[in-house]
Amino acid sequence: MAFAYRGGVLCAEEVSLEEIARRFGTPCYVYSRAIMENNYGQFARALAGRAALIAYSVKANSSLAVLALMARLGAGFDIVSGGELARVLAAGGNPRKVVFSGVGKSEAEIEQALRAGILCLNLESEAELERVDAIAARLGVRAPVAFRVNPDVDPKTHKYVSTGLAQNKFGIAHGEAERLYRDAARRRNIELIGIGCHIGSLMNDAAPYAAAAAHIGALAARLESAGIRLSHIDLGGGIGIRYRDESQAPVAEFVRAALAALGTRKESLIMDPGRAIVGDAGLLLTRIEYVKPGESKSFVVVDAAMNDLIRPALYDAWHEVRTVRETESGAATDVYDIVGPVCESADFLARDRKLAARPGGLLAVMAAGAYGMVMSSNYNSRPRAAEVMVSGANASLVRERETVEQLFAGERVLA
Ligand code: LLP
Repeated sequence: MAFAYRGGVLCAEEVSLEEIARRFGTPCYVYSRAIMENNYGQFARALAGRAALIAYSVKANSSLAVLALMARLGAGFDIVSGGELARVLAAGGNPRKVVFSGVGKSEAEIEQALRAGILCLNLESEAELERVDAIAARLGVRAPVAFRVNPDVDPKTHKYVSTGLAQNKFGIAHGEAERLYRDAARRRNIELIGIGCHIGSLMNDAAPYAAAAAHIGALAARLESAGIRLSHIDLGGGIGIRYRDESQAPVAEFVRAALAALGTRKESLIMDPGRAIVGDAGLLLTRIEYVKPGESKSFVVVDAAMNDLIRPALYDAWHEVRTVRETESGAATDVYDIVGPVCESADFLARDRKLAARPGGLLAVMAAGAYGMVMSSNYNSRPRAAEVMVSGANASLVRERETVEQLFAGERVLA
């Protein structure tokens, strides 16, 4: 366990979180490099022997230090914006391993991607095909594309992160796929190289993932008989992690089920995991400002807030909260809501948790490595947290805490 108590103090690998708080301040995201490497290794091992690309989904955690680590491990990248592409390139990622998804790619983003020479644009509509074709013609290149097909499979997950149902905005309709592939195949500036899907996030069970793989595999077979040969199948991301007590199928099971569903298909396989690589590799370290006992509710007010980690407020997500000291002597054990300083009742990190809290004590909000820092904001003019990467006995600052001056550096006061 890379986050464990050693001598009564919670540590990230070999570094105590008390030391990290002293050196870098709070709130602060803390990542374990070993956990990220190990999680990546689960995919790499499960896919060994099969032509495959693990395209880390940048949106889950786009810190340059994380991207650089992924690049060194040989990962590709699943991106959804020009900003993410710029980050991948700045971190030393290989553009030939980048797939670009998303329903709303702008002309500038498509041009940026084609100029960078990315592996594939995942098209999500007929209008986008037209747009990419026109830009490729203007640039005098052939745009490598895949269609993201909506297989209408229920991922059985939270409605906000479900993306593969007919009612969702993502992908082209399953029934439209053949027509669009034929259309695209006729265009000189379009190079059809793949097909993909992504049905949702936080899947605990591999069955929906395999069902989507079977749909896409069958479609690839039909396209092949129509003379359209593709070189890859992209099954997206969406493998969950255990936040609480969910029964979570391991990565290897998702891979096994997907490969079984694809049967003898020869296309190379792309997967774009985000959360499964970084989710349990990060925590949010925060200090208790006040303990506020109340008649109907008791509160622990900490220095991190919904602007740092919005998942509890947005999805009612449950994150484990641990005291950094295994036993807080002299602290009152009670059932608390753990809340931040932001002026919203939705500003909570956890509710109804029994813990021993004392002002000045440190808490760790666990499994915050995915969709934590990336979804943070400056609401209430709160500068964003620092980020620290731990490897063995070393803790390095990988993103400085934002300053208040940076918050309004681009603003103008009118005369
Ligand atoms: N590929 C595509 C096309 C995606 O849209 C996503 C996530 C992924 C891969 C990566 O999914 P993952 O493996 O991380 O589940 N903010 C939400 C999650 C939103 C996911 C959006 N798409 C949360 O905090 O739970």
